[in-house]
Parts: sequence; C-alpha cells; structure tokens
Amino acid sequence: MSHPSPVRTICCIGAGYVGGPTMAVIADRCPEIQVTVVDLNAERIAAWNDPDLSRLPVYEPGLDAVVGRCRGRNLHFSTAVEPAIAAADLVFLSVNTPTKTKGVGAGQASDLRWIEASARQVAACSQGHTIVVEKSTLPVRTAETVQAILTAAQGEGAPGDGSTPGKSFSVLSNPEFLAEGTAIADLENPDRVLIGGEDPVAIEALADIYAHWVAPEQILRTNLWSSELSKLTANAFLAQRISSINSIAAFCEATGADVQEVARAIGTDSRIGPKFLKAGPGFGGSCFQKDILNLVYLCGHYGLHEVAAYWQSVVDLNSWQQHRIARLVVRRLFGTVTGKRLAVLGFAFKADTNDTREAPAIRICRDLLEEGAQLAIYDPKVCAAQIARDLGQAELPAEASERQALSGEGSWRAASSAFEAGAAADAALILTEWGEFAQLDWQALAAGMRQPAWVFDARAVADAAAVRAAGLQLWRVGEG
Ligand code: UDX
Ligand code: ADP
Repeated sequence: MSHPSPVRTICCIGAGYVGGPTMAVIADRCPEIQVTVVDLNAERIAAWNDPDLSRLPVYEPGLDAVVGRCRGRNLHFSTAVEPAIAAADLVFLSVNTPTKTKGVGAGQASDLRWIEASARQVAACSQGHTIVVEKSTLPVRTAETVQAILTAAQGEGAPGDGSTPGKSFSVLSNPEFLAEGTAIADLENPDRVLIGGEDPVAIEALADIYAHWVAPEQILRTNLWSSELSKLTANAFLAQRISSINSIAAFCEATGADVQEVARAIGTDSRIGPKFLKAGPGFGGSCFQKDILNLVYLCGHYGLHEVAAYWQSVVDLNSWQQHRIARLVVRRLFGTVTGKRLAVLGFAFKADTNDTREAPAIRICRDLLEEGAQLAIYDPKVCAAQIARDLGQAELPAEASERQALSGEGSWRAASSAFEAGAAADAALILTEWGEFAQLDWQALAAGMRQPAWVFDARAVADAAAVRAAGLQLWRVGEG
C-alpha cells in the first residue's frame, strides 16, 4: 500500500451503473476513506441500502459481496446531497449525460443539464478546497463548463461564518472505462486509470487513491482535454470494431462463409487481436451510441464533415443490423409474424447486467410488434416494468393477447423462463448472450413450440447441433 492519501472523505453524485460500483470498489480498497454516494432518486438510494443484497439497483457479478463488506463501514448511500458535498475533500460527478432529445444538437449532443446542476450544487455547498472529478462520459471541454460554474463560487466563505477559509476548487477528468457485466473485475484490475487535469497536487491526490490497488505505471496523467477525448475515442474505436464485424457477418450470410471462423482467423493477427470481434444484434449500452453521436456533433461543429460522416456510419450500420434481423425473422416465418407468438430470450444490452439502455432487443422487438407479433419476453435480470418503459407499451396478459392476436396488433408479455416464453411459439430469438441460453434443453423447448419452428440466434451462443437435433430450423448471425 502507498502512503496515506490526503483525501479522507469522498462524495459521489449519482448512484448509477458507474457511481455505485466504482465507489464500492474505492471504499473496499481504501478503508481509511469515508465514501458517500448521493442521488436525488430516493427509490434508488433505498435499493442501495436494502438489507437484501440481491436487490441492489444495479446487477453486477460480485457487486453484492463488495457492498456487503463496506456498506455502513466506509460506504454510505444517501439522498442528503448537501451535507455530503460539504464534508467532502473530493467530489465525483457521476450523473447521467444522455443524448439531447430537443433543442440545439438534438439527437447528437450530450445533455449536460445534470452535470451543470450537480456542479452548481458543489459550488453552493462545498467548504474549503474541493477536488471535483468528472466521472461521467462527457463531451470534450465540459470541464470548462464545470470550471466556470465553480470559479464563480470561488472565494465565497461558509454562510454566516467569517472565519472559514474561502472555497476553492480543482477540476479533474477521470473517465471510467469499466464495462457493465464485468464492472467489479474491470475496476479491481483496470488496464489503466486516466487522470486529466492542470493542478498537479489534485492529480496526485486522486492518483494516491487508485495507487491503493493499481500499479503506478497504469495510472496515466494527461491534460484535461486529452483525458475527455480519450474516453470518446476509446468507445468510438470499440464500437467501430463491432460495426465492422457485423458488416462482415451480413456478407458471410450472403456468401456462405462463417463470421466466427473469419473472426478467429483475423483475431490471431496480433495487430488486430481477438477481442471485440463477436458479431451480434449490434451494440447497445449507455455509452457507445451516445459517445459516437457526440463525436459526430463535435466534428461537425469544427467543420470536419468527412470525419463526422465516417463516425456516423458506425452508428448507421448498427441500426441497420438491428432492423435487418427483425426483417429476416419476418421473412423466414413465411413473410408474416402477425398473430404469431415469438419467444424473445434476453432483453438486457449484454449478459450479466440488468441494464437495457439502447439494448438491441428494444429496436428488434419494436419492429416485430409493428408487424403484429405476440412476444413472450424472458430475461433473467430485467423486470417487466422496465421492458414496458423501453417498448413504450404496457404488458398484455396472456388471456387478452389471444384477442389481440386476432386484431393484428402486436403485444408482449413477460415470461419467467425460456420454456414459458417458448410455449406455443413459432420461433425463439436469442438477443442477449446469457450463459443459460448456451445450456438450453432444446428437445424440451421444441416439444412446446408450434412446428415448423425456428431459432434465430443473434448472438451465436446456442448449441447449434442440439438445436438442429431437436428438429428446429436455425438461423445464426454471420453463418452463410
Ligand atoms: C463500454 C466500454 O467497453 C467501456 O469501456 C465504457 O466505459 C462504457 O462502454 P459497456 O457498454 O458496458 O462498456 O459494454 P461492452 O462490453 O463494451 O459492450 C457494448 C455493446 O457491444 C454490448 O451491446 C455488447 O453486446 C456489444 N458487443 C461487444 C458486441 O456486439 N460484440 C463484441 O465483440 C463486444
Ligand atoms: P451511469 O450509467 O452513468 O452511472 P445512471 O443514469 O445509471 O448513469 O446514473 C446517474 C444517476 O445520477 C441517476 O441515478 C440520477 O438520479 C443521478 N443524478 C442526476 N443528477 C443528479 C443531481 N444533481 N444530484 C444527485 N443525483 C443526480
């Protein structure tokens, strides 16, 4: 362990998929630091404080054990934002930054209203010197906004107490590179930690925290703008690999090659590497699309229209892949899914998370509902209420769905297992690569389906031989 960190108290604003797990690991690795995670969402905070660790609001393998070790010791979850900021030596801003839905830059630029609101709260409530760390994915030069808001408050003393030293701030960028589903492993063993800033003392204070468990050579220091842009660039490069392999998957299907074999062959080239070459229903998650659109917006702003078009094509290919899968399901089911029952296996944007933001399942299910399908959706970790919000359509009970089927209107209902979803279905669509879908008993599933029945495996995880042995027809992404 390194020398003790000068930071004794941390406040993290935002108890989401980034703030929650990240602070849990910091608290676990730095027992002498008190970490308080605050959020305006009382329901979310209550769930973080639930004595039953299986009910935390974020599902991540291993997270329950870390929270169980630290909560109440040096990890706290609270809705009391102001006192937590006042007590903090260091504040992480880990609030949501979704793509703007209206106004200037709608559909591309990030909506910074929550970042701005939290920066204003820090400006109002902090005491003495506070290190303010951007943790959310932000467009380049957001630190300028945060800095401007904080500078306006600089020098103000604590209300009613002339003897308290004035406020001062150092702003750092410390992007989070964890991937959901492997958040705890990624946090405990990161490829690198990136700290951007201008104030060397603040940079070292934050580096000291990570030095409790991360090797010094893995802690990279850059200027603020490089740090912010590195996060956007990393996500853009990763997403671009997925669109690249998905474009080749479509080509393989048309020509008789197998994308898994192509991926294996190119992945052994050390310059390319084997990771992030899995063809699928397109990327989802809160970051990839948002960050690329943000990059597109910024490039357009700086007059780099060819660069903007290049990155836009990565997002366009992703949307195309999702619509393509929905269309091919319809085509194979004799050109119509109206009134047909389809089992949707997996709704989360990837395995081992309960997060559905930008999940490919959303777009694919919406297309199929539009075609009049009756969907039975099973996901081991996503609740029916979330699916209803994502599809913009309430769940329809089984009895009512019979009537709905005759009317030609699409409907959906949640199923509590793959078998329940598959009952009387014409097809099963695998949209998330949950481990259990690789182990399915296809004989048993096929017995309940309406023949001739199909399996559409958009993640290439099902045991193809077992599917075929059960008498089911199989379409697998990227297989010609
Ligand atoms: C991503 C980045 O990996 C992470 O560094 C950043 O902090 C946040 O964004 P995340 O979105 O949580 O993380 O998951 P990731 O594993 O990157 O997967 C993103 C999407 O790409 C998922 O929908 C996944 O299914 C898909 N994917 C990933 C593929 O389709 N094929 C692959 O080979 C890899
Ligand atoms: P991420 O995946 O980046 O962690 P989430 O949407 O899961 O994003 O979490 C962001 C959290 O930040 C939400 O729970 C939201 O309620 C919270 N939040 C946003 N603005 C504020 C604010 N000003 N004060 C406290 N919490 C906030």
